[in-house]
Amino acid sequence: MKPSRWLAAGLVAVATAAALNVVPATAGRPYDPTTQSLRDLAKRHGLYVGTAVDMAALDNAAEPRYRELAGSEFSTVTAENVMKWESLEPTRGTYNWGPADELVAFARQHQQRVRGHVLVWHNQLPTWLTEGVADGSIDTAELRKILRDHITAVVRHFKGQIWQWDVVNEAVSDPWDTPSTLHYKGFWAQHLGPGYVADAFRWARAADPKALLFYNDYNIEAFGSGNPADDKTQFVYEMARDLRARGVPIDGVGSQGHLGTQYGNYDTLQVVAALRKFAGLGLATAFTEVDVRSQMTAGVQAGDSAEINPRLQASAANFSTLLRACLAERHCLSFTLWGFTDKHSWVPGAFSDPPEGLATVYDENYRPKRSYQELKADLIYSGPPFVLPRVPQQPRR
Ligand code: G3I
Repeated sequence: MKPSRWLAAGLVAVATAAALNVVPATAGRPYDPTTQSLRDLAKRHGLYVGTAVDMAALDNAAEPRYRELAGSEFSTVTAENVMKWESLEPTRGTYNWGPADELVAFARQHQQRVRGHVLVWHNQLPTWLTEGVADGSIDTAELRKILRDHITAVVRHFKGQIWQWDVVNEAVSDPWDTPSTLHYKGFWAQHLGPGYVADAFRWARAADPKALLFYNDYNIEAFGSGNPADDKTQFVYEMARDLRARGVPIDGVGSQGHLGTQYGNYDTLQVVAALRKFAGLGLATAFTEVDVRSQMTAGVQAGDSAEINPRLQASAANFSTLLRACLAERHCLSFTLWGFTDKHSWVPGAFSDPPEGLATVYDENYRPKRSYQELKADLIYSGPPFVLPRVPQQPRR
């Protein structure tokens, strides 16, 4: 071969290795993918793997493992609480950026992207806002202005530092709500009507034209009956389709992925079908808050392996279902866990009758569980032709 051909062949080999993110074997030590972190294994797929971060745990010097793993295993982070309205603007017009800025700095230090959570939600609102509306001192026109000002201030503050914003969170009711016909629910729909959703996306886009803007919700992992009156995924799909049709700058739909081993849950193909349908609207998707909780029976609490093992196994299967679906759909950009250790999970605090727990991929002593190993295996043993790198999403103008 001519020297120029050798050079060309060498360049192709290097480029291919780089594209596949193949790590060469070091002297005497073959490359072992099972020792790699989730974030490194996900890189080959162009996928970001993330976690919600509890700032109190991150700052706890007595618990260094939390910080180590948050930095080494994940390529994207989400503030579990500190970017919510009650944290950012506890007093009207006075912002407390400290903890959220600290997370953004942590992400920069660890070459991580940030998912911003959350601009508009009916929970964790400051009392000055909810009480002002309740006692009539804040009227509808003022409330709309307050919402616009908050979105503008927050998105501007973090401009250029947030990859994906959860602009609107959990706007849609559940079949167990009253009335049972699905509808726009909660504080914002009640006081401003459903038009606030489109407004919020437009205000967010104006404040940071480069951030990807997401609608985020739970129980939308798969389609049901196809009737928007009782199928939440269909309701959200039609909402996103209408927003797109009206030129509202929505770029993605986030599926939270809060599952439980006591439920029927889904198979991978159902979840792929849902992601694909959203992609058909020109939208990116992401799993944004994945965890899989289990009922903590007396047997589980007493350490009975006959009760614990099936839960660990079912949990791993559910994590895997969502990750494999995400890998299969090229517009699924990131896979974020809602916390990574049972030591710091919202689940025990939120479900006490019956108690629930075991929801994350590391146990309370930071030992990786079967679910962690399965996530790893999915990242290792998948690839072309059915699993290809992600298609980057461009913010819609
Ligand atoms: O900050 C106060 C603290 O001052 C007080 O001493 C303590 C006593 O209970 O409460 C602290 O606030 C708690 C807050 O988390 C911060 O730790 C609240 O009680 C508690 O309710 C709150 O829970 C959060 C929950 O959202 C609120 O709805 C969870 O940590 C958080 O994981 C959870 O996250 C949500 C997502 O944002 C949206 N999707 C569902 C997901 C799970 O509910």
